[in-house]
Amino acid sequence: MGEVAVVTGASAGIGRSCADRLFRHGWTVYGASRRGTRSAGWHPLVMDVDDDRSVDEGIAAVLADSGRIDAVVAGAGWGLAGSVEETPIDEARRQLETNFWGAVRVVQRTLPAMRAAGRGRIVLVSSIGGQLGLPFQAFYSASKFAMEGLGEALAYEVAPFGVTVSLVEPGNVRTDFTDSRRLVPVAASSPYAAAMAGAIETMAAAERRGVAPDRVAALVERLCSSDRPARRATVGRLDERIGPVAKRLIPNRIFERAAKGSLGL
Ligand SMILES: NC(=O)c1ccc[n+]([C@@H]2O[C@H](COP(=O)([O-])OP(=O)(O)OC[C@H]3O[C@@H](n4cnc5c(N)ncnc54)[C@H](OP(=O)(O)O)[C@@H]3O)[C@@H](O)[C@H]2O)c1
Repeated sequence: MGEVAVVTGASAGIGRSCADRLFRHGWTVYGASRRGTRSAGWHPLVMDVDDDRSVDEGIAAVLADSGRIDAVVAGAGWGLAGSVEETPIDEARRQLETNFWGAVRVVQRTLPAMRAAGRGRIVLVSSIGGQLGLPFQAFYSASKFAMEGLGEALAYEVAPFGVTVSLVEPGNVRTDFTDSRRLVPVAASSPYAAAMAGAIETMAAAERRGVAPDRVAALVERLCSSDRPARRATVGRLDERIGPVAKRLIPNRIFERAAKGSLGL
């Protein structure tokens, strides 16, 4: 058995590409999702990252089967569109339940085995939206900003045990993510209706023109296989990847004026 990886979100998009690519590179892969999609070569795992027990049982099953976990790729996630003012708190909570707490659950359950082995690779699939606040996707951005803080802090804690943490920040990627995005219902009379519709349509169109998920998978495979993986790595079109750099270098007002222009705000 080669090195063992657990990939969440493996039934589609980025997670599926990561599972496929790691498998092609000789890894033994457990691909987790609620659907439990099968793929030639790697092991499907039905696991809902929103659910404590499901994650407990899923990771325990992998360890019982393989005896080790060398890398975990936290890729399960979805998008939520709505204004901050009009998004029901329960829906906002659900967004963080999967995108943030789901990753926390998987990391917590995986770490004991990695510490015991004295080696491990944790790869958190964040987003450029974890560096830039996306209007009308505030809770999606919040979930990814939270993941960024988690990963950065966790890296210090686990370094003494030979475990590394990498944050992968994709720009727009062509996956089911766009059509699966949940939209908070907006009344025609909402003061946000027109701005939100325009901004979300612009972002969705950019996602449909985005890079193939295998571009992200190639980066993830390199991080999982590296002796000194990067803490952060962006992936995608160059004009998207320079966003976080530009935000740091130029005054907020100028950066935001350009962002508003591109989103029709
Ligand atoms: N596409 C983009 O442009 C883009 C850009 C930056 C970052 N990302 C991030 O990349 C990650 C993957 O997104 P994607 O684009 O590949 O989307 P996708 O094609 O819609 O795939 C999402 C995956 O997450 C799984 N998932 C969702 N909720 C889950 C849960 N509660 N438990 C277990 N699995 C769950 C889905 O499987 P089941 O439905 O079978 O459970 C599916 O396999 C997300 O974290 C997303 O935020 C995407």
